[in-house]
Amino acid sequence: MSEKLYVPVLLGTNRKDRQSDHVAKWVFAKMQERDDMEPVYFDVRDFDLPRDHYGTEIGHHFPEWRDAVIRADGLVIVTPEYNHGYPGALKSVLDLLLKEYIHKAVALVGVSAGPWGGTRVIESLVPMVRELGLAVTFTDLNFPKVGTKFDEDGNLLDDAYQKRVKGFLDELVWMARALKWGRENL
Ligand SMILES: Cc1cc2nc3c(=O)[nH]c(=O)nc-3n(C[C@H](O)[C@H](O)[C@H](O)COP(=O)(O)O)c2cc1C
Repeated sequence: MSEKLYVPVLLGTNRKDRQSDHVAKWVFAKMQERDDMEPVYFDVRDFDLPRDHYGTEIGHHFPEWRDAVIRADGLVIVTPEYNHGYPGALKSVLDLLLKEYIHKAVALVGVSAGPWGGTRVIESLVPMVRELGLAVTFTDLNFPKVGTKFDEDGNLLDDAYQKRVKGFLDELVWMARALKWGRENL
């Protein structure tokens, strides 16, 4: 159980001036500090998404993402709340693959300008990632009023998140290890 877990982080918006960028980078940095996981960073902005080609085999056109998900023990998705839902670009990236996600853990980070911290976008993500075969952790991380949470250099201003991110990642590790054991032994 000492082997590092391989965990891609996906930033789910390509919006210019996105505040979720600070959140994703901060969570990624906290993951890098731990000795139980090896995170790798993905950004939906870097995907040259197809205009008309979805479904089987399209994942071969995105080998870096496909190979990372195949190797992954778990995923972290950082998503802003757009009209109580998730960005279309996030859905488009997740739809590039299917069986590669099965029986892997996913932990969700919600970001919003409003006071609810993306709780509604997380609730809307749960049934969608379930259909991908992912198993969702119950310890979400929420960033309400995100515009007040970071300084201009992306430094987090609220120390309470140090404890929260530990619980969020500890639970992801537990779920990812349990599912890894299952994939390898059942
Ligand atoms: C199209 C759109 C819809 C939005 N809908 C919501 C919403 O439903 N609830 C909310 O709290 N904030 C909403 N926001 C504000 C975002 O939560 C805010 O921009 C926040 O900084 C996170 O998104 P960002 O990473 O794009 O900056 C919306 C923003 C956009 C661009």
